Amino acid sequence: MTGHSALAINGGKPVRTDPFPAWPCFDKREEDAVLKVLRSGKWWQFAYGQGLELIEGESQDISQTSWFQRDFARYHDCEHGIAAANGTATLEIILRALNLGPGDEVIVPPYTFIASASSILQIGALPIFVDIDPLTLNLSPQRVEAAITDRTRAIMPVHFGGQCTDMDAINAIAKKHKLFVVEDAAHAHGSEWKGKKCGSLSDAGSFSFQNSKNMTAGEGGIITTNNAGLAEMCRSYLWAGREKGRPWYEHHRLGWNYRITEFQSAILRIQLERLQEQTRLRDANGRYLSRALRENVKGIIPQTNDERANLISYHIFLMSYEAAAFGNMTRKEFMDALTAEGIPCSGGYNHPLYRNPMFLNKDFWKDGFPCTPGYAREINYHDFIDTCPISEKFCRESVWLTQNLFLGTKTDMDDVVEAIAKIQQSRA
Ligand SMILES: Cc1ncc(COP(=O)(O)O)c(C=O)c1O
Repeated sequence: MTGHSALAINGGKPVRTDPFPAWPCFDKREEDAVLKVLRSGKWWQFAYGQGLELIEGESQDISQTSWFQRDFARYHDCEHGIAAANGTATLEIILRALNLGPGDEVIVPPYTFIASASSILQIGALPIFVDIDPLTLNLSPQRVEAAITDRTRAIMPVHFGGQCTDMDAINAIAKKHKLFVVEDAAHAHGSEWKGKKCGSLSDAGSFSFQNSKNMTAGEGGIITTNNAGLAEMCRSYLWAGREKGRPWYEHHRLGWNYRITEFQSAILRIQLERLQEQTRLRDANGRYLSRALRENVKGIIPQTNDERANLISYHIFLMSYEAAAFGNMTRKEFMDALTAEGIPCSGGYNHPLYRNPMFLNKDFWKDGFPCTPGYAREINYHDFIDTCPISEKFCRESVWLTQNLFLGTKTDMDDVVEAIAKIQQSRA
């Protein structure tokens, strides 16, 4: 430990000057894959044929998207994968394919990215926020049941940071009340619950491949499911309402064009090849850091690992910062000092989702639809401030580290602990 040496923010020597592993990561395999698509002239999946789900095995000339969908789904213990433009679109498509819409309510945690809730509004249903668990920081099953009404149709847990939500409890509640479950697995590529992959633990899973995610093509998303009928519906919604085996210009339902390109799929196939090794590395480093912080530093509380979540993607390493243990340094002062010591970090969301102006003003569709009489019960999004105290508190105290920090060595983790301990000692 560095003892009482001056903080880097005050001109002292930083704990580390070496950068953490860069993100996104790529090598010649991605370069070759992109060039191959470019030169083929086949830049979208349809270039390979009219079917909505391309058939493999007939020739070597197969769409990158078809390969990727199959391989990603198999890796995630699912029979069907439907790749899409992004991880917001995939949530919308799943909800629509489950036949949800105006008048329906979907339970979702408020400590998440806006897409988890905006996707619900985009299909005309209403997000109902239920607080997170103070330890795992995921949707609290204990609180879900009290929020169920006769309008509730689905629960959408978010495996936040990559740690699986308590799916045993969520699925039991859903079964009892006959609700769908949709996993927002945007952070949970390769994560496991009792040995099974996230995205395979419910009716359908949704992943994102946006630039920061643990696998990326800049943008992209995929739906995973073991329900063939649901997969077929998702494909139809994604392909402008087309139906398999029917004429190209025959549209059966109100769909979108949310398709992915062959360039993205080609990159993602390579990224998938690295996923297992990278996930194991992030998991090992994340758990090591979590233990080391608990043992060596007071006032920094890492997200608690549920032991059933046996593999954690650590898309985000979450910690609570308690200012009292740091001589009442504000969280911003702490984060600035930590960054200056060579450990990049951020505070995450400023407030839970329901505090966004869009919810407080119900600035959704025309005249506040779908939050309008006739379609919904009276909902005041201000009220969730009282019912979600854990999310409120965590927004004030959270400090995030990103997944690329966990692609290095245990020594990198030791640096994180040393930097935090150094800041703490400077205020002792
Ligand atoms: C929890 C969560 N859900 C959904 C999304 C949406 O993914 P995308 O950015 O690919 O639309 C994100 C993206 O950051 C996310 O963090």
